Amino acid sequence: MKNVTLINGDGIGPEISNAVVKIIDASGLKINWDVQTAGEDVIEKEGVPLPERVLNSIKKNKIALKAPVTTPIGKGFRSVNVQLRKELDLYANLRPCKNLPNVKTKFDNVDIVVVRENTEDLYAGIERQVDVDTAESIKVITRKASERICKFAFDYAVNNNRNEVCVVTKANIMKLSDGLFLESFRKIAENYPQIKKREILVDNLCMQLVQKPEQFDVLVLPNLYGDIVSDLCAGLIGGLGVAQGANIGLDYAVFEPVHGSAPDIKGLNKANPAALLLSAVEMIKYMNEFVYAEKIEKALFKTLASGICTADLGGRASTTEFTDAIISNL
Ligand code: NAI
Repeated sequence: MKNVTLINGDGIGPEISNAVVKIIDASGLKINWDVQTAGEDVIEKEGVPLPERVLNSIKKNKIALKAPVTTPIGKGFRSVNVQLRKELDLYANLRPCKNLPNVKTKFDNVDIVVVRENTEDLYAGIERQVDVDTAESIKVITRKASERICKFAFDYAVNNNRNEVCVVTKANIMKLSDGLFLESFRKIAENYPQIKKREILVDNLCMQLVQKPEQFDVLVLPNLYGDIVSDLCAGLIGGLGVAQGANIGLDYAVFEPVHGSAPDIKGLNKANPAALLLSAVEMIKYMNEFVYAEKIEKALFKTLASGICTADLGGRASTTEFTDAIISNL
């Protein structure tokens, strides 16, 4: 039996992680879940939002499935999500966006993989209050991190039969920082003659994505653009309720949806567990359990194809009804 760390999160986290664990159990795949709590709720007892025990559990098990954790805006603690990615050096954030059966969207030919750098850029958290009316954030881009994320994107393209990798920057304005990212891309690209290369500015990319998304294949971006563009791509395939993700490093991998803790629908049995479920499917493939991954994915697609879905996709099913329908389709 495989050991996997499970972070239930907060907001809608516990509802969707219960649903996903139930579906995986029903598939017959045996996983020993090492349940770990993190976030605001544990601060009172343990003093910090991301206790050492959570990191130790992931270091021991090597794999984690994570539901969203709330980050208060403007005050309080640093994001557990950002900290986790940094502490475990989960440098690649992988967010595949592909149309799903019966999920109606403006476009029906979206198949984009967003590869987001996960450890630096404006997310390095280096900020200072210059004076009462001025604050500064420092954008950090290093050659090492830029080259390894570009290499990850090209390796992903080769291993998954993709044709093109497109680098996204604003190197015309941020000539040093984004310029270094672009330079790193060009250097790494030389090692992949079989893959087409493309360069685009992030503002132009956003316009193109909402007009002709089918032209894009694998995108590689610095952290902040990656964060924003992956939500845009999630919107192209039906929204955050279906957008999966993974944070991958050399030693560990944490699988989590793109969306946050959705406090507006917390506890209402309305949340769509599909994004976490699709993230779990990727995790199961990463564990080389392809038969179970395919079984679960097929059951989800069959459920969607039959018209059963949650409110975010225009349906009427509650989280538990949708979950039960998937289980009966396994
Ligand atoms: P959000 O992704 O939680 O919600 C945005 C909108 O999408 C809301 O209307 C919400 O109801 C809807 N939504 C999201 N997931 C859904 C699902 N599975 N099913 C149905 N509807 C869904 O983004 P927001 O409101 O900006 O962030 C809320 C909190 O989550 C913040 O504290 C933020 O920092 C945190 N967050 C955590 C992440 C993580 O743990 N990886 C990622 C993004 C945000």
